[in-house]
Amino acid sequence: MTPVQAQILPTSPPSGIVPEKVRDGIDLQINGEHYRHTGDPQMPLLWYLRDILRLTGTKYAGEHGENGADLVLVDGKAVSAIGQPVTTLAGSQVTTVEGLAANDGTLHPVQQAFIDEDAIGCGYCTPGWLIAAVDLLRRKSKPGDDDIDQLPNLCRCGCQTRVRRAIKRVAAGKAGQP
Ligand code: FES
Repeated sequence: MTPVQAQILPTSPPSGIVPEKVRDGIDLQINGEHYRHTGDPQMPLLWYLRDILRLTGTKYAGEHGENGADLVLVDGKAVSAIGQPVTTLAGSQVTTVEGLAANDGTLHPVQQAFIDEDAIGCGYCTPGWLIAAVDLLRRKSKPGDDDIDQLPNLCRCGCQTRVRRAIKRVAAGKAGQP
């Protein structure tokens, strides 16, 4: 750079323009939205959802996701959100219970069937059941009681029988029908 060039370069950006660094981070797709996480890459997805995004439908389900209330869909498969560090999720599509309904608010058939069968008590376990049911119905179009009972979800309000009916209602194509 010649002395003349050095003299004409501004010493600071024009007023009103603030340069912004592109920070390294983990690109996440959650319920169709793009997020960049720039914090601890080992943060469990559960805490990212609840504490950062305020998507609180996904619940704490024990240190190892024992009761299934923390299930989310990752590329269509139900996984424990507490067992997934966000660093493992770059490039994956994450769907939480908040993302099950259509954009126009129409409930997912599984959500509708849980209402139809009154399969909701206190509601703590319900998001996990909904996610597990979506995954189960993807894998098996006509699940039986054994298939449903093998899901990791627990309901302390005693809704298991009604949950079975709700899942079978979806399988029969009768969600939302009398
Ligand atoms: S509805 Fe209360 S724990 Fe299942």
